Amino acid sequence: MHIDLAVVPVAGQGTRLLPSTKSQPKEMLPVGRKPVVQYVVEELALSGIKRLLFVTGPGKTSIENHFDLNSELIAFLRETGKEDLLAELAFERQNLDYFYTRQRRQLGLGHAILCARPIVGNQPFVVALGDSILGVNAQSDIVHRLVEEFIHSKADAVIAFEEVPREEVIHYGIAQPRQSNRPLFELADIVEKPSVADAPSNLAVAARYVFSPYIFELLQHTAPGKGGEIQLTDAIRVLIQGGGKVIGIKLGADERRFDIGNFESYFRAFVEFALADPKYGPDLRDWVRTLMGRTS
Ligand code: G1P
Repeated sequence: MHIDLAVVPVAGQGTRLLPSTKSQPKEMLPVGRKPVVQYVVEELALSGIKRLLFVTGPGKTSIENHFDLNSELIAFLRETGKEDLLAELAFERQNLDYFYTRQRRQLGLGHAILCARPIVGNQPFVVALGDSILGVNAQSDIVHRLVEEFIHSKADAVIAFEEVPREEVIHYGIAQPRQSNRPLFELADIVEKPSVADAPSNLAVAARYVFSPYIFELLQHTAPGKGGEIQLTDAIRVLIQGGGKVIGIKLGADERRFDIGNFESYFRAFVEFALADPKYGPDLRDWVRTLMGRTS
């Protein structure tokens, strides 16, 4: 089996990041030097993905523009003697095929994945949420590991998880593992955004999944859940209840997830990536130290 197709949902409205996201997608916000979605694509390419299907929505055309080959810009850089900047556009030439479809109604993440069905058809596929970066500068091969495990264990789904502080479980899909304290575990259940009291663990879905195409069948029959939206987590739950094999893999300590869905984690991601920048990081560190000295 060969899995080289990733569905990247980018249709969400980014309301938690207003006003920044009023007229630009949250996936195009910069973290350090690059927009969020570029990190996602580079990570997927590192993991062997060759075909990317974006599920877009209103106001998202700048994502399509970003991955186009911009020959006018290239000519302009050459004509004006700025050839050194051409390296910044090297990502345009990655060996990837891009496909786009639109979620025509905002009915939730599960529905966005269902919009990919006519194109994905009857093959297993990766899902990578377009607003999460894994690892500083996206240095994570988690998708490769998910795919290997999916093939090896003949699973119906394999999902990346990260441990989050107990009070943060309310923001994520949370696993109930069959075996505790293992880096790789089978799921007994999963629940979308539980209360702290009801959460079965602190293992949160970390924005990367591999599915067999059977998930579409389940999504087709998934009623609106949390927030009135068709939830991917609810379809996974039905998959488990029906005897499906769903496996979780915990992220390593060096591949933390940066969730660009709210300002708190967006600010943290930006600061961490900027401080890690080989060119600008060292001076920035000094400047931040001075700034902290002034404000503390
Ligand atoms: C979605 C999923 C949730 C998952 C999260 C990861 O939530 O529904 O299960 O943990 O992404 O980022 P959203 O952030 O779209 O509310």
